[in-house]
Amino acid sequence: MSEALLSYRSPGRVNLIGDHTDYTGGLVMPMAIDRYTTISGTRMPSTIRLRSKNEPETVEFKLPISAPDKVSPSWGRYVAGVAAEMQKRALGFDGEISCTIPIGAGLSSSAALEVATALALGDMSSAVERAKLCQRAEFRAVGVPCGIMDQLTVASGIRDHALLIDCHELTISPVQLPNDVKIIVRFIAERKLASSSYGERVAQCNAAEKIIGPLRLASLPALTSITDKTVFQRARHVVSENQRVRDFAAMLRTGDLKSAGQLMIESHNSLDRDFETSTPQMNSAVATAIAQPGVFGARMTGGGFGGCIVILADIKANLDGWQVRAVDAASQLD
Ligand code: GLA
Repeated sequence: MSEALLSYRSPGRVNLIGDHTDYTGGLVMPMAIDRYTTISGTRMPSTIRLRSKNEPETVEFKLPISAPDKVSPSWGRYVAGVAAEMQKRALGFDGEISCTIPIGAGLSSSAALEVATALALGDMSSAVERAKLCQRAEFRAVGVPCGIMDQLTVASGIRDHALLIDCHELTISPVQLPNDVKIIVRFIAERKLASSSYGERVAQCNAAEKIIGPLRLASLPALTSITDKTVFQRARHVVSENQRVRDFAAMLRTGDLKSAGQLMIESHNSLDRDFETSTPQMNSAVATAIAQPGVFGARMTGGGFGGCIVILADIKANLDGWQVRAVDAASQLD
């Protein structure tokens, strides 16, 4: 008897606005996009064996696994991290991974691999629980103290909608994308989250919270009690970015695309000047984009230090880049 072929697919994500807010329980507004990681294969007792169409080496380990950070090749650590977090619930799997999400581009190829892996290993929990499990897996496997945005977005995407996510409450308000806009992603430069200064930014936000309490509840005037200039700037970005996300969602709902685009530009400037996660290359890419006819706004997207910019434009605008569509969450394929 031949084993049934099982397939699981997870989208990537692009964040429209609200970066470096999730790990302080702030607001973000990403969408799952039509670029995917797909895992197909069959059940195998007590073993995970996965080949990747994009990588030369196969990942193979026995269940249960307790040291996912030691697995080789290194991309297998994301898989092993998920298996380790699922503990006894993880089912064995023998299969192949294919991926149309560019790796190292800031479009959440890691979160997509984690969430597709969780499904392939038999996770039956809710989208929020699956996202939390995959967030823990990422920390355990590769040491990145990431927020919940990426995993939650790919685990809960809704076709044609951006997701307004409250990263403290873990609630999602879908906002329909207007018919007359398109979202363009332009790849600028490869980046690696683990080797970036991401962890340092997380620590600086923690330092600000020790002085003024949760940044998600803070107002701009409260920041004056922070004397360290860098910590002050980081906090100013987070507090102002949360407000921009709120306003952006309202603008999108009313179809005020010009104002929504302006907020994206302000978000980019804040990430560049206060949070210092942009690069000269990304700044010039944003400046080029916003000078083009039909563009409402553009910004760096995701963790920064490279990656992509995202552009909000009129549907009729003729622009270079990948046009992305908002799609549904990770799921098993028929
Ligand atoms: C990375 C992290 C997310 C988030 C973004 C910045 O993508 O994985 O949790 O912090 O950076 O918004």
